[in-house]
Amino acid sequence: MIKQEWIDKGYIDEAIPADVDLKAGIRRLCEEKNAVVLAHYYTDGDIQDVADFVGDSLALAQIAEKTTADILVMCGVHFMAETNKILSPEKKVLIPDLNAGCSLAESCPAEELAKFKAEHPGYKVVAYVNTSAAVKAHTDIVVTSTNARAIVESFPKDEKIIFAPDKNLGGYLNAVTHRNMLLWNGGCHVHEQFSIEKIVELKAAHPDAKVLAHPECKSGVLALADFIGSTAAILTYAEKSDAAEFIVATESGILHEMMKRCPGKRFLPVPPSTGPCACNECGFMRLNTLEKLYNTLKYEWPVVELDEELRIAAKKPIVRMLELSK
Ligand code: 13P
Ligand code: SF4
Repeated sequence: MIKQEWIDKGYIDEAIPADVDLKAGIRRLCEEKNAVVLAHYYTDGDIQDVADFVGDSLALAQIAEKTTADILVMCGVHFMAETNKILSPEKKVLIPDLNAGCSLAESCPAEELAKFKAEHPGYKVVAYVNTSAAVKAHTDIVVTSTNARAIVESFPKDEKIIFAPDKNLGGYLNAVTHRNMLLWNGGCHVHEQFSIEKIVELKAAHPDAKVLAHPECKSGVLALADFIGSTAAILTYAEKSDAAEFIVATESGILHEMMKRCPGKRFLPVPPSTGPCACNECGFMRLNTLEKLYNTLKYEWPVVELDEELRIAAKKPIVRMLELSK
């Protein structure tokens, strides 16, 4: 039975007997319940290894739409689980820890975006997928970092556009598409921290290394990058490149997949500007643990639910994005 203390905490912390093999137990529960585990590249390696699918935010949304499983467990952050529920209302969508939010999504409250939109009549609203369902409901189309450039370019050159919430991704898109979209002043606390000085130092020590950056990084970091792209695009670049070393300016969880795909290559995570941490981790993504995942599958909780009217409103701009991303 689900306990009130778990509901209050947003996750289940029931102790699991030491002799339980967590990974085997997770796979057994998935089979028994026709459940699939989806994991983002920023989660711990153990979570990625036990998942049915690992991907970037676009791939995970596409899988959620297609899978025939009865239960989806989203090992990522809340907006990703919400996107799964929006696309697959008939499925039970679970998230191991309801506290797995996103600082970028939080930087754009729906009421404030609605007000801004009302102040700018005639503007289309393009929203990054890192937003709540309530924000998506106010938008014309959703984008991920994989398809953002192509989708912005699908609008006529003179279209008036509000881009929310990531000002760094928006600024990058303005530069590469030669647009002048109005940018919401939001950002990701992980990607905004990467140190330009440390990249310069790493480049001096590894002159042949390629710098790979996610477009959520600040423009000073992007200016130093040899390649800018989504997590999936960065992975493909590293695989195809002849270079042997890479300086990686995105959440360090991605190194797990990089090392798996490119065993002979070396990946150097860029440290943040402040703090003792030698890597850069999204604390929200790291709330996903094997223990919580096991308990989530066992008790089928926490469940992600959405008001039906909101779900339908938020679905439209996501479906538009998926249609343009085929
Ligand atoms: P991707 O779309 O590259 O997976 O990025 C999602 C994200 O949360 C980046 O911080
Ligand atoms: Fe959100 Fe940043 Fe974490 Fe991505 S890395 S989920 S944008 S807080």
